[in-house]
Amino acid sequence: MAISDISHRKRYLAEGNVYLPHIAVIEKIVDETPGIRTFHFNFKDEKLRKEFTFESGQFGEYSVFGTGEAPFCISSSPTRRDHLEFAVQRAGRVTNALHRLGVGAEIGFRGPFGNSFPLDFLQGKNLVFVAGGIGLAPLRSLIWNVIDKRDKYRSIDIIYGARSPDDLCFKYDLEAWEKDTTVKMTTTVDREAEGWTGNVGFVPSITEKVAPSPKDAVAIVCGPPVMIRFTFPVLEKLGFKAEQMITTLEKRMKCGIGKCGRCNIGEIYVCRDGPVFSFAQIQAFNSDEY
Ligand SMILES: Cc1cc2nc3c(=O)[nH]c(=O)nc-3n(C[C@H](O)[C@H](O)[C@H](O)COP(=O)(O)OP(=O)(O)OC[C@H]3O[C@@H](n4cnc5c(N)ncnc54)[C@H](O)[C@@H]3O)c2cc1C
Ligand code: FES
Repeated sequence: MAISDISHRKRYLAEGNVYLPHIAVIEKIVDETPGIRTFHFNFKDEKLRKEFTFESGQFGEYSVFGTGEAPFCISSSPTRRDHLEFAVQRAGRVTNALHRLGVGAEIGFRGPFGNSFPLDFLQGKNLVFVAGGIGLAPLRSLIWNVIDKRDKYRSIDIIYGARSPDDLCFKYDLEAWEKDTTVKMTTTVDREAEGWTGNVGFVPSITEKVAPSPKDAVAIVCGPPVMIRFTFPVLEKLGFKAEQMITTLEKRMKCGIGKCGRCNIGEIYVCRDGPVFSFAQIQAFNSDEY
């Protein structure tokens, strides 16, 4: 089965007008790094709270009323239904406004939108997760999803890097994965830092050092474009084919549902047809994405 067969499956969409946000309440805020916060939230409407489903890799359009709306992936796993999470790196207008909110604040949510990581395709495979910085947000949803159904997958390799120890996100997850004997976890930082005794080096070169085998494997890579651009060639050198490498594209978006034409690459709408694509698909778009 090819990844493209799976990504066009019909998906759950919350009832109602897709342009009208559902009201959600922030229940908890976690400071991940100096510029990144995770928000735990739940819908105000009880029916929606019970019925809402999503898949790892999907995103929502989140709004701060009076400021604007921006897309963020759902960073929690659909296997853990008590609440939803998204992580926000401060960048501009909406992200700064989100960082100013406190517990109890109301936000808007439209979605879930987009395709998702192809779980059917990943089943029975050796999985290699490669992430940098906030790029771990979409991957942690998938990693917990896979760990919660551990017997469906083979080995799990996680390679994660950030600029400095302070910039490592989701430290509580990293600790849990370190302790999990069924997971091989490698963490790295770009430069030597006081008190840091772990790996030092950029994610692509650490990936080359870890040298995951391409046999029956799929690599899922998320992070800053520069990291992805240098990681794909490393994986190719290790023997991974373009169909065995998956990533998410983060185009600027507005509607989230394939209507406004803000996020297209040729005939592809990243919000509707993506954001998850294999490297083979990206190459076929004939674009300069990576
Ligand atoms: C599908 C998808 C999922 C995403 N998931 C996350 C996530 O989980 N966590 C997270 O922190 N961010 C995520 N992003 C990026 C996030 O949407 C942008 O950072 C956000 O829209 C910026 O909004 P703003 O109003 O604060 O910034 P603006 O004031 O609009 O812009 C501030 C700066 O950020 C740049 N910028 C804005 N949007 C993007 C973008 N999409 N790509 C590159 N640069 C951009 C602008 O060019 C500008 O330099 C995701 C984007 C997409 C498309
Ligand atoms: S964001 Fe409107 S078409 Fe994709």
